[in-house]
Amino acid sequence: MSERSQSHSTVDPPAPSPTVVTIPPGATYAAGFLDRKAQEALRDTVREIVARAPFYRPCMPKTGKPFSVVMSNCGPLGWVSDRDGYRYQARHPQTGEPWPAMPEILLDAWRRLAAYPHPPEACLINFYDETARLGLHVDQDETDFEAPVVSLSLGDTAVFRIGGDTRKAPTRSIKLKSGDAIVLGGPARRAFHGVDRILPGSSDLLKSGRLNLTMRRVTRPE
Ligand code: SIN
Ligand code: MN
Repeated sequence: MSERSQSHSTVDPPAPSPTVVTIPPGATYAAGFLDRKAQEALRDTVREIVARAPFYRPCMPKTGKPFSVVMSNCGPLGWVSDRDGYRYQARHPQTGEPWPAMPEILLDAWRRLAAYPHPPEACLINFYDETARLGLHVDQDETDFEAPVVSLSLGDTAVFRIGGDTRKAPTRSIKLKSGDAIVLGGPARRAFHGVDRILPGSSDLLKSGRLNLTMRRVTRPE
């Protein structure tokens, strides 16, 4: 080997830059929790749910400003928002029908991720089109804060923002991709979080846009 090629061979290739994500204590980020097959199965299950409980556009309490996200639910309870406020209720606000049952695929994800002995009672299903976003908020309409919130993402990547227990606490961004899960438990159960934007065309799982499913325990078990 010539001197020249020897010296060339000692040059290290640039190290791949690692993706470092720091999240608040109590939050768990499980990248790639659902493989492609599981994502397809969950997508198809969501299609069946929304065929019976169609997406509707909630609005802000008091002002009536429409959300950019459309929503549905499954499970015994569903989270809704209208001029009267935020709440959980057993029926779809437009059809008056009970929400479809929580499918096994979601109960299984809860059992694997939640570290909580009782089943979730609500799964909020959000659909984001290319321009939808969700402002910083805390999930606080539940009575049992011992249980975490378990979130699953499908379709286009979301720029998810998470901070601390005050609106002014520093925040950080995580790109939630199709199949990623995030669990907000412990101190992070009351963390402010939201979605700044969707990255259009970043996944081919859906025709366009993003689905997010968040499972919640609403009532304190007996
Ligand atoms: C939510 O906070 O309800 C949804 C968060 C997300 O879409 O990732
Ligand atoms: Mn939330």
